Parts: sequence; C-alpha cells; structure tokens
Amino acid sequence: QTVAVLYGGKSAEREVSLSSGRECIVALREAGFDVLPIEVTEDLPAVIHALTHPRPDAVFNALHGRYGEDGCIQGVLDWLGIPYTHSGVRASALAMDKAAAKAVFRAAGLPIAEHRLVTRDELEAADPLPMPYVVKPVNEGSSVGVHIVKTGSNCRAEIARSWHYGDHAMVEAYVPGRELTVGVMGDRALAVTDILADAGTFYDYESKYAAGGSRHVVPARMPEEDYARALDVALRAHQALGCRGASRADFRYDEEQRNLVLLEVNTQPGLTPTSLLPEQAAHCGIPFPALCAWMVKEARH
Ligand code: DAL
Ligand code: MG
Repeated sequence: QTVAVLYGGKSAEREVSLSSGRECIVALREAGFDVLPIEVTEDLPAVIHALTHPRPDAVFNALHGRYGEDGCIQGVLDWLGIPYTHSGVRASALAMDKAAAKAVFRAAGLPIAEHRLVTRDELEAADPLPMPYVVKPVNEGSSVGVHIVKTGSNCRAEIARSWHYGDHAMVEAYVPGRELTVGVMGDRALAVTDILADAGTFYDYESKYAAGGSRHVVPARMPEEDYARALDVALRAHQALGCRGASRADFRYDEEQRNLVLLEVNTQPGLTPTSLLPEQAAHCGIPFPALCAWMVKEARH
C-alpha cells in the first residue's frame, strides 16, 4: 500500500509538522508501507501534481495549523477522492476555530471556561473578563500567540496593538492549576497526561518542543473520578465535533476546586518526539508504527 505523507505546510507550525512528518515517514516504512514523502510548500499545484502522478492509496496528513488542520487540505483531498488520515473538512474547520468549537462544546454540555470573542479595539479599550485571563488567536496551535494577562499587569493594550492573528482574539478565564491532555483513538480515550512545564510559566511553544522542555506524567495522578471524567469529556468532544481517527483534547484542571475545563480539541495532534499522543499510545501498549498504521487504516474521504 502506498501512503503519501503530507508535512511542512505554510502555517506558523511548519517546523512542528516537519518534525511530525519525519517521525511518521520512518514509522510507516517500519510498518511496511510504501511511503511517498511530500513536503508541502506555498505551491499547492505542485502538491496536487505529486498526489496524482501516481495516486497514492492513502494520504497521511502530518500537517498542523492553518491550511493543514482547518479543513483546507481536507477539502482538496475530498475533491481528489483520496482517503486521508484524521478528521474531515467540517470537524477540522470547527475544531480549528476556537469560537465555533466552544459553541459546539457548550451545546453538548461539556465544561468550558468563561470566554469572549473580542475585536482588537475592544481588547485595547478594556479588560474583556476579570483578570487573570488568557488571550489567544482564534485559529492557531502550539500556543502560538497565547498571552496570559495576570492581575496587576498592564500589558493588555500592548497585546492588542501588536495583535497580528486576525481581527478577533479569544479571551478565556484563566483556570489555575494543572494542564492535562487526553488522546483519543476512534471510540477510545487513551489516558490522561499531566503536563509540567519547566521552561516557561505555562506550556508554551518552547516547552512543547525543546527536549526536556516539559515533563509528562502518564497516567496523571488525580482523583479517580476526575480522571474518568477527563477521559469521558475528551471522547464526547471528539464525537461532538465529528472527528475521525485520532485527536487530542487539552484541559485545565484546578484540583482544589475539582474544576475540569476543556480548552480545545486538536484534530492533528503533534507526532514529534516530544509529543503527547504517541506517548499515551505507547502507555497503552501501542508502539508508534502501530499508531501510524492504525491512522492509515482509518483513512477516509
Ligand atoms: N498543535 C500541536 C501540533 C498539537 O496540538 O499537538
Ligand atoms: Mg491546539
């Protein structure tokens, strides 16, 4: 079976995707696939040419961020009629748009933080929520553009003035405590990982991808009931968005208040050497090549 791996792309997460893609290429070869690596650049016609001369049996989508995770490339692959890994157009577009995803989560009765979608001008004018709160782009990943505004800081107007992630920003109440994540494979939530960021004040880009930038504890140590709840919410979020294949739900968890809040679902979870989904799969006895092979088996268009 021939599998084309799409990686790179033109989003802010290009480097992350190059890393994910390299891991997947090696793993898929190990799993016995005929692998055709296709590094995606600005040149979409070149990608379409590579995907049609000859056509692969499936596409492994190792792209992250804009165009690769938001439904764009999924639409191209639907159009071409080539099965691809992970979510389709609609779930990808919904999950990538933090405002749309929150509306779906709320309708599904899932726990989310208080939030506001604000324009740059509104953010510059006043605090949209009581401090502390988080300001984030509506459609980026890997913590690109994420700012925490803490009590006593006056950086809000400055963030607003230098904002270059579109006309709007998502503002969300900051939940103190821990950062958790739950990987989902189809109808199974894998495990809860506790993320302890060492490098920065939170699990930012640096701590996500620098070797030793964060420590991961899997399974997370927390009350059994809350652990089960995190698994359940991750699976229901995956289903509410209509995700396919694997996804990964990110949470904040305040252990004192026993407050668990769903932040987002990543439809193209990182597959780099420091990434969380492969670690959880391994914890469940699924080696990385088997995880990638499963993703190919679930490929649809
Ligand atoms: N956006 C990165 C790749 C992740 O969620 O793992
Ligand atoms: Mg994300």
